[in-house]
Amino acid sequence: MTILNILEYPDSRLRKQAKPVARVDDAIRKLADDMLETMYAAPGIGLAASQVNVHKRMIVVDVSETQDVPHVFINPQLTLIGELVENEEGCLSIPGFYEPVTRAERVRVRHLNCDGDANEFEAEGRLSVCIQHECDHLEGKLFVDYLSSLKRTRIRKKLGRQHRIRA
Ligand code: NI
Repeated sequence: MTILNILEYPDSRLRKQAKPVARVDDAIRKLADDMLETMYAAPGIGLAASQVNVHKRMIVVDVSETQDVPHVFINPQLTLIGELVENEEGCLSIPGFYEPVTRAERVRVRHLNCDGDANEFEAEGRLSVCIQHECDHLEGKLFVDYLSSLKRTRIRKKLGRQHRIRA
């Protein structure tokens, strides 16, 4: 398995719209393994292919304490269910920043699994939030887009500065 490079905000490649996975083959399964490895190493609880500069509709998540309950969702389609809830969110592409975001309490995910079979999965709580956050990435959307433009600009300036120093 390979640890992949995670793009960081404000990298414009994070804004690309991801394309559906046409066929679940060995290359897609390898990508899923690499994404999980990358997420665990970071460490994080979710990762979208867009974040590793692969613009395919695919996300991985694991919100378990023990980091041993991985989920892979290929071509995920969400149905939002229930009340809206506010949770503090962070993002591996926006390191060091956590802000409250409002999302649906529960979610139903139609998707393909790693065998290419159509499947349905229902999630609530942290897992639901995480799945919604990762699916946003596939649309080129980031959690900072839910914040005020003042907050977003502040974060962009701070991260932009860090990138220059690191380079
Ligand atoms: Ni994220």
